[in-house]
Amino acid sequence: MFINNLTKYRELIIDKPVDNISVFENTLTQISNIHDQEHFQKSVLRRILFQGLVGGKQPKAIKEALVHKSGWKREAFLNLPNEGILQIVENPDLTAFIIEEYLSYKFPYPIINQEAVIEELSFYDIRRDDKIAEIGAGSGSFAILLYLLDLRNIIYINELQASLLDLINLLIKVPNSMSLSSSFVKIHGDKKSINLPEKVDKIICRMSYHHFDKRKKMLKSCRQSLKSNGHLFLYEKSMSKKSRGDCDELLEYDDLKTFPTKHGFKLVSELHLEGYILLKFELK
Ligand SMILES: C[S@@+](CC[C@H](N)C(=O)[O-])C[C@H]1O[C@@H](n2cnc3c(N)ncnc32)[C@H](O)[C@@H]1O
Repeated sequence: MFINNLTKYRELIIDKPVDNISVFENTLTQISNIHDQEHFQKSVLRRILFQGLVGGKQPKAIKEALVHKSGWKREAFLNLPNEGILQIVENPDLTAFIIEEYLSYKFPYPIINQEAVIEELSFYDIRRDDKIAEIGAGSGSFAILLYLLDLRNIIYINELQASLLDLINLLIKVPNSMSLSSSFVKIHGDKKSINLPEKVDKIICRMSYHHFDKRKKMLKSCRQSLKSNGHLFLYEKSMSKKSRGDCDELLEYDDLKTFPTKHGFKLVSELHLEGYILLKFELK
């Protein structure tokens, strides 16, 4: 069912008209060449395209930022056609799913990493009627995957940044048009609290926990917003040592595991997924 819904969603978003499809495809092909090269460039590229998507930046500014941030392979970035970059950002549904690596950069943008997505979703063990909160949802792409499970869930999409909430507003239109059984509720987050109006079964922090400035307060708020049999999930990059290009705020493996256990949570299980780690906690 999930795969059918994801396939349908993909068809809906790639069908959206783009003015100049050949420039768009050419740009994506060039991006995919860069994308295949090196991890550092890949993460930089994703970040900059994401900024373009959120900040409505002009293509020239996006390319300059790419060159500036990467420091090398100048030609590769400068060769990207302006029009293509603009058009990528003009199909935000497709761009968001490509940046999050659910769809390929290459035409016709097939679904990728399907097994990893299914493995991750299975770990959350989403049940019918569960209330789920994704904290720090970014573009909301992962929350859209939860919606596509079609399990009559209430999905709280919590995000700190107003510009991202605007993007989320835009991106949930297509899934909502599919009229599946789940529903979205947007929540403007803050630095100290997850601001949920009720207790939930699952709280998912996907690559957001390491950004929390007030980690202790956020964990307290998670404790208060979880049902007694609920679970908190942290999905983070797994590493024992930071490497070049990694986000400065990333946490090391031991920290990830022990800090929540000192603040009211008990580690139940963990899953290692292609460079990422997923931790499942329950209330102590
Ligand atoms: C790397 S993004 C993760 C996006 C998404 N969860 C995903 O898996 O693709 C991290 C997000 O966490 C958000 N964030 C950071 N601190 C937050 C807080 N205290 N409350 C809510 N969101 C927060 C940031 O604004 C950012 O959008």
